[in-house]
Amino acid sequence: MVSRGSYTYPRGLCLAVLMLWVASLAGVSSMAEEVDDETCLACHDGIEASLMKGSHALESMRPGSGVSCVSCHSGGEVHIEDPTPDNIGNPGKALAAEAEAVCTACHIPHADVGTIGLDPHRSQDFSCGTCHQVHGGNAALLIDEEGMFCQTCHAAVTNQFRRRSNHPLTDQAVTCMSCHSFTGESEPTFGHGPSANCATCHPEQGGPYIYEHQATSSFSTEGDGCTGCHEPHGSSHERLLMQGGNSLCTQCHGTPPLHRTRHGGIGTQYACYECHSATHGSQSHRSLLNPQLGTLVGGEPGSCFCHNIEE
Ligand code: HEC
Ligand code: HEC
Ligand code: HEC
Ligand code: HEC
Ligand code: HEC
Ligand code: HEC
Ligand code: HEC
Ligand code: HEC
Ligand code: HEC
Ligand code: HEC
Repeated sequence: MVSRGSYTYPRGLCLAVLMLWVASLAGVSSMAEEVDDETCLACHDGIEASLMKGSHALESMRPGSGVSCVSCHSGGEVHIEDPTPDNIGNPGKALAAEAEAVCTACHIPHADVGTIGLDPHRSQDFSCGTCHQVHGGNAALLIDEEGMFCQTCHAAVTNQFRRRSNHPLTDQAVTCMSCHSFTGESEPTFGHGPSANCATCHPEQGGPYIYEHQATSSFSTEGDGCTGCHEPHGSSHERLLMQGGNSLCTQCHGTPPLHRTRHGGIGTQYACYECHSATHGSQSHRSLLNPQLGTLVGGEPGSCFCHNIEE
C-alpha cells in the first residue's frame, strides 16, 4: 500500500484570511489593482485552465473563490495599456520575500501549521515557487509530482538511494514526499516520529504483536523505532540495516551470559537473528524466537530443543 499521507490545508483560517482579503478589496474597489480577469484573458487566452486544476479557480469561474489574476500579479492597470513583461508583477521573477508575500496573503506557510511541524526550509531564502508552480496543474501544484526538485537540492541524500540496499526511488514507487510531509497535520514534518510513516506501507512489521520488541514498537510512542535499525534512504548492508550481523543487536544488547555456557555455547554459534528471527515482534514467544528453532539447531523436527538456555 502506498500512501502519501494526508495533508492539511488550513481551510478555516484561510477562509478567514480570504474573507478579510475580499472585504479589503471591496473597501478599495476603485484602486488601480482591480482589473477584471476578462481583460487579462483577452490577451492571455487559455491560461485560466491551469488555475482550475490547481484550485485557484477565478472568482469569475467559481464565485466566492476570491481569486483573480491581480491577486498574484500586481500592476495590471499599467500593463493593459502598455503590455510589456516589465510592468506587471510576476512572483516567478520577484525576490523570494516579495514573491512569498503574494502567497501568504491567503496561505499560512507550512512551518506555522500545527504545533510541532517545523520546516527548516523556512529559514532559507526560498519562495513558495521553489517547490510550487501555480500555472502547472500538478497535484498540490508541485513542480513535479515525483519530487525531482527535492533531489536537485539534496544530492547527498539522493546518492544514498544508490546504495546496495535502498528504497525504490528511481522506480518512483516511493518519492521524498512518501516519508516527508510538509503539512504537519498528524505526523510532525521534520521533528521526531517519521517512523510512523513506515508502518503505513509496511504494516506487517509495524505490529501489533502479542510480544512486542520494544526496539520496534517505540515508533508509535517515542518516534524512534524503525530507524533504530534501518537507514531509510539506503544502506550498504542488506535490508536497509544500519549495521551488519550481530552488531545490529549488540548496539543495545549484550550477549546473555548463558548463551555462552549452555549446550556448549550454542547461543554464540549462530547469528542472533537466526534464533531470534521474529525481530520485529512475535505472536508466539516473548524472546522473539524462531518457531522452527529446534529444527534449525539440529533437533528433531517439532522438538523444543532450546528450552531455558537462559537459566
Ligand atoms: C493587450 C494585451 C494584454 C493584456 C490586456 C494583458 N497582457 Fe499580460 N502580457 C501581454 C504581453 C504582450 C506580454 C509580454 C509577453 C512576452 O514578452 O512574452 C505580457 C506578459 C505578461 C506576464 C509575464 C511577465 C513576465 O515577467 O514575463 C504576466 C504575468 C502578465 N502578462 C499578466 C497579465 C495580467 C495579470 C493581465 C491583466 C491584469 C494582463 N497580463 C493583461 C499582453 C497583455
Ligand atoms: C495564485 C496566484 C496566481 C494567479 C491567480 C494567477 N497567476 Fe499567473 N503566475 C503566478 C506565478 C507564481 C507565476 C510564475 C510561474 C508559475 O509559478 O507558474 C505566474 C506566471 C504567469 C505568467 C508568465 C508565463 C508563465 O507561465 O511563466 C503569465 C502570462 C500569467 N501568470 C498570467 C496570469 C493571468 C492572465 C492570470 C489570470 C487569468 C493569472 N496569471 C493568475 C501566479 C498566479
Ligand atoms: C487570493 C487568495 C490566494 C492567493 C493570493 C494564493 N492562493 Fe493558493 N489557494 C487559494 C485557494 C482559495 C485555494 C484552494 C483551497 C482549497 O481547495 O481548499 C488555493 C490552493 C493552493 C494550493 C493547493 C492546490 C492543490 O491542488 O492542492 C497550493 C499549493 C497553493 N494554493 C499555492 C499558492 C502559491 C504558491 C501562491 C503564491 C504564488 C498562492 N497559492 C496564492 C487562494 C490563494
Ligand atoms: C521545500 C518545498 C516547499 C516549499 C518551499 C513550499 N511548499 Fe507547499 N508543499 C510542498 C509539498 C511537498 C506539498 C505537498 C503536500 C505534502 O506532501 O506534504 C505542499 C503542499 C502545499 C499546499 C497544499 C496543502 C494541502 O493540504 O493540499 C499549499 C496550500 C502549499 N503547499 C502552499 C505553500 C506556500 C504558500 C508556500 C510558501 C509560503 C509553500 N507552500 C512553500 C512543498 C513546499
Ligand atoms: C532549493 C533547494 C531545496 C529544495 C528544492 C528542497 N530542499 Fe530540503 N533543504 C534545503 C536546505 C538548504 C535545507 C536546510 C539545510 C539542511 O539541513 O540541509 C533543507 C532541509 C531539509 C530537510 C531537513 C534536514 C534536517 O537536517 O533536518 C529535509 C528532510 C528536506 N530538506 C527534505 C526536502 C524535500 C522532501 C524536498 C522536496 C519536497 C526538499 N527538501 C526540497 C534545500 C532544498
Ligand atoms: C522511506 C522513507 C523516506 C524517504 C523515501 C525519504 N526519506 Fe529522508 N528521512 C527519512 C527519515 C525517517 C529521516 C530521519 C532519519 C533518522 O532519524 O535517522 C530522514 C532524514 C532526512 C534528512 C535529514 C538527515 C539527512 O540524512 O541528511 C534529509 C535532508 C532528507 N531525509 C531528505 C530526503 C529527500 C530529499 C528524499 C528524496 C530524495 C528523502 N529524504 C526520502 C525517511 C525518508
Ligand atoms: C510509500 C511507501 C513506503 C514507505 C512510507 C516506506 N517504505 Fe519501505 N519499502 C517500500 C517499497 C515499495 C519497498 C520495496 C519492496 C520490494 O522491493 O519488494 C520497500 C522496502 C523496504 C525494506 C526492504 C529493503 C530491501 O533491501 O529488501 C525495508 C527494510 C524498508 N522498506 C523499511 C522502511 C522503513 C524503515 C520505512 C520508514 C522510514 C519505510 N520502509 C517506509 C515502500 C515504503
Ligand atoms: C531491532 C532491529 C529492527 C527494528 C527496530 C526494525 N527492523 Fe525491520 N528488519 C530488521 C532485520 C534484522 C531485518 C532482516 C531480517 C528479517 O527480514 O526479519 C528486517 C527486515 C525488514 C523488512 C524487510 C522484510 C522482508 O521480508 O524483506 C522490512 C520491510 C522492515 N524490516 C521494516 C521495518 C519497519 C517498518 C520497522 C518499524 C516499524 C522496522 N523494520 C523495525 C530489524 C529491525
Ligand atoms: C535500539 C535498541 C535495540 C536493538 C538495536 C535491538 N534491541 Fe532487542 N530489545 C530492546 C529493548 C529496549 C528490549 C526490551 C527490554 C529488554 O528486555 O531488554 C528488547 C528486547 C529484546 C528481546 C526480549 C528479551 C526478553 O525479555 O525475553 C530479545 C530476545 C531481543 N530484544 C533480541 C534482539 C535481537 C536479536 C536484536 C538484533 C536483531 C535486537 N534485539 C536489537 C532494544 C533493542
Ligand atoms: C542458538 C539460538 C540462539 C542464538 C544464536 C541467540 N539466542 Fe538469545 N536466546 C535464545 C533462547 C532459546 C533464549 C531463551 C528464551 C526463553 O527461555 O525465554 C534466548 C534469550 C535471549 C534474551 C533474553 C534473555 C536475557 O538473558 O536477557 C536476549 C536479550 C537474547 N537472547 C539476545 C541474544 C543476542 C543479542 C544474540 C546474539 C548475540 C542471541 N540472543 C543469540 C536463543 C538464541
